[in-house]
Amino acid sequence: MVNKHRPLAPATFKPADLVRPAVRLAVAGEASLLNSTTAAAAEKMFAAAATAGVTLTLASGYRSYVTQAATYNGYARAQGQPAADTASARPGYSEHQTGWAFDIGDGSGADSFTPQFAQQPAAVWAQANAHVFGFVVRYPWMLHGITGYYYEPWHLRYIGPEAATEMKNRGIGTLEEYFGLEAAPAYL
Ligand code: DAL
Ligand code: ZN
Repeated sequence: MVNKHRPLAPATFKPADLVRPAVRLAVAGEASLLNSTTAAAAEKMFAAAATAGVTLTLASGYRSYVTQAATYNGYARAQGQPAADTASARPGYSEHQTGWAFDIGDGSGADSFTPQFAQQPAAVWAQANAHVFGFVVRYPWMLHGITGYYYEPWHLRYIGPEAATEMKNRGIGTLEEYFGLEAAPAYL
């Protein structure tokens, strides 16, 4: 469980079991890797989406501490630190560094990494079906006061089918609420 109150320990943690899932990739290199459990679940989910006529691509998976630092610093340079903190985790605080999370695209690039992506078939399908494969949309609409990040309809986090289905059925939007943790809108 990683959020603005719960960094990785050590900050430079790297999963020992990173693998490249057999899915449609929109990235190469380390960003195409996931931990082995997440990769296996992603393969099942992407295949099910394809059967339903929906294309999912892996747009960003694992990010090392060093890559996350560069990503975050890019946002901070472009937008300033307060805005960067609503969209990008500081190094040592990203789910991408755990191997348990990844971003989806739809292969067309339409609305990628914007709130409007939520209306694209890939995101609509994921919102409705990801729990079956163990995934949750980790940063839901208007719950940034709890998660610390604005809506990311593309960012999925693996928690297992049982937990993801329970969250869906109980209408729980965030892992903070599901695990009974305090809201983490900002760094301590
Ligand atoms: N965009 C998410 C919050 C991350 O940087 O991990
Ligand atoms: Zn993400």
